[in-house]
Amino acid sequence: MNVTMTVNGAEVAAETEDRTLLVHFLRETAGLTATNVGCDTTSCGACTVLLDGESVKSCTVLAAQADGHDVVTAEGLAGPAGQLHPVQLAFRREHGLQCGFCTPGMVLASVSLLRENPKPTEEEVRMGLEGNLCRCTGYHNIVRAVLAAADDMAAESAEVTR
Ligand code: FES
Ligand code: FES
Repeated sequence: MNVTMTVNGAEVAAETEDRTLLVHFLRETAGLTATNVGCDTTSCGACTVLLDGESVKSCTVLAAQADGHDVVTAEGLAGPAGQLHPVQLAFRREHGLQCGFCTPGMVLASVSLLRENPKPTEEEVRMGLEGNLCRCTGYHNIVRAVLAAADDMAAESAEVTR
């Protein structure tokens, strides 16, 4: 079947099998390898992307289901001049990563969480990210990074509206 979707603002159209998972479509057809595959049990969240702005595990979605929709991967988070997203900056500053394998999915899940709840408590961050597993960090710095990103984004929007 032919599938067409917008990925990080650009149209990607390709012939693919009906059973192709979105994560494989992104990695192998679109060539966007930041989206990782960490399990085969839909439990790790390494494959998290934004589908029409909502975080989804792209190993649980068929490419066909994303036909006509908008997908954002970690490659698409940076701004037009290549500046990192505030969540990415906060992860770097607060040491929210070690090996980095979970990080693209963790960052996208965090972006989605902060869109829904721009001022989360620590508990809400922990609950919001519970579908994303990290084997390295013990989560503490990840949670700190998300809380810091929330503060940074609030300060940025206060600056814009001033
Ligand atoms: S690869 Fe583990 S949840 Fe998708
Ligand atoms: S930083 Fe290694 S799995 Fe999270």
